[in-house]
Amino acid sequence: MEFRPVELFFREEGEGVPVVLLHGFPLDHSIWLPVVRLLADRARFILPDLRGYGKSPDGSEIHTMRLLVEDVLLLLDRLNLERVILVGHSMGGYVGLCFSHSYPNRLAGLGLVASQADADSPERRQARLRTARDVRTKGVDLIAHGMPSTLTSREDIQAQLHDMFHTLRKQSVINSLKGMAERMDANPWLDQIKVPTLVIAGGQDKIIPLRKAQEMVELLNKGWLFEIPEAGHMPMLEEPERVAEGIAQLISAVHDN
Ligand code: MLT
Repeated sequence: MEFRPVELFFREEGEGVPVVLLHGFPLDHSIWLPVVRLLADRARFILPDLRGYGKSPDGSEIHTMRLLVEDVLLLLDRLNLERVILVGHSMGGYVGLCFSHSYPNRLAGLGLVASQADADSPERRQARLRTARDVRTKGVDLIAHGMPSTLTSREDIQAQLHDMFHTLRKQSVINSLKGMAERMDANPWLDQIKVPTLVIAGGQDKIIPLRKAQEMVELLNKGWLFEIPEAGHMPMLEEPERVAEGIAQLISAVHDN
């Protein structure tokens, strides 16, 4: 299969071991800034916008996880980074798991934040494809109005997300929904991961329940759960200090590995 990766926009903060932070759907790199500011003396953070979001081009194809992996690989090659710690939020975690399967030698550590290894159930897949059709006819307002309250119960963060979602590109949202709908079950890959793997989960997550994080940790060789009981699906904005603490643990575990 031929991939046509795009050059991702990215921002860099801090110095030290390279840590790439991938945002979830339909967000951009800015969600990580509160966490990165707390850890800038610990690592060199690389924050890309995934294709179709923020300042990155879309490429006009379905955003399969495998294709998003190639975008990340191209970024690592552009920066001459042989191995990195990769931390992904939700859809970014789906990309991280697919990266761990495709390019295990480029990974020094993995972080999964509010994410899961499961593929979509048939019902979830149908619902996603229905949302993709609705976005085509009704536009991204559908996402901007409906999604923030499922991501977090914090009204200040909902308002911030609402503003972010108004700048979404309709075709990119459709491409991502289709890409997530066809993603593979990553459970068979979990026990192949040889590097330290941090799993952060919010106890109030309405999109991916805590149970999914617990199930992943059971299958990982070097995985551990970092639970944030009061967080929803956006722990990096809801509880940045706790997420920074988790990522600091991952950096130490990679150092000691
Ligand atoms: C995300 O936050 O990236 C998505 O909501 C994940 C999903 O819908 O599966």
